[in-house]
Amino acid sequence: MTDVSNDPTESQPKPRVLLVYYSFTGQSRGVLEAAGDVFRERGCEVDAAPIEFTDPRFADNFSRFPMKRVWRDMFSVLPAQSRKVSGEIRTPDEVRTGDYDLVCIGSPTWWKDASMPIRSFLQSDEAKTTLSGKSFAVFVVCRRYWRENMDAVRTMGEQRGGRMLGGIHFTYPGGQVRSMLSLTSFLGSGQYRERYLGVRIPPTNVQPQQLDEARLFAAQLLDQWSAQTQANN
Ligand SMILES: Cc1cc2nc3c(=O)[nH]c(=O)nc-3n(C[C@H](O)[C@H](O)[C@H](O)COP(=O)(O)O)c2cc1C
Repeated sequence: MTDVSNDPTESQPKPRVLLVYYSFTGQSRGVLEAAGDVFRERGCEVDAAPIEFTDPRFADNFSRFPMKRVWRDMFSVLPAQSRKVSGEIRTPDEVRTGDYDLVCIGSPTWWKDASMPIRSFLQSDEAKTTLSGKSFAVFVVCRRYWRENMDAVRTMGEQRGGRMLGGIHFTYPGGQVRSMLSLTSFLGSGQYRERYLGVRIPPTNVQPQQLDEARLFAAQLLDQWSAQTQANN
């Protein structure tokens, strides 16, 4: 684990941090929790706000892990993702009532874009309450396609009045086909297997060294936020 707990800037102001994310298999939650540990070690107050995907058209497919029928369940959201529409979600009170200085957004990629639950939050009035006048950072987690997701979250976050402080992405091992088979195998079984459909597959999901990267990024974000805050005072 990267040692980022030694804070040379004890006297600096500490932001109140909100970790807001959607996470179907826990990968986005995992990287935000690693970052959250660093914020806490350095004296910040940290709250988590997991988003629930409650849209009646899709909730059933995303209500259980592993997926019941993986290809059908994954494809069920493709038309809506392509149209960039939002859907029904449930959010914790923190996004409405909290007053945070730094909002970390955990955003898994769905069909080369931000997932419908994250888009739905970022297009809501609640997101204006959470983000307006605040710094935010984006943590994209995906098998391979991170850029469109990052750009979409940045655009929507800025439209809600936030200032993007930084972004980081985490992708999964393996080439195009094998990484997709490995992810699909995991989503449909909940297990890490060595072969799927007769093909040898690489590991999937966020790897331990990527949690170290998340910790380092959190420490850098905090330094950046402190420097900006001191410069503005
Ligand atoms: C419906 C669906 C569509 C996906 N589409 C993509 C994609 O187009 N590109 C990609 O790199 N990963 C894709 N993925 C993989 C996810 O990004 C990956 O499983 C995600 O990062 C897991 O994070 P989570 O456990 O926090 O939800 C998709 C996953 C799902 C469930």
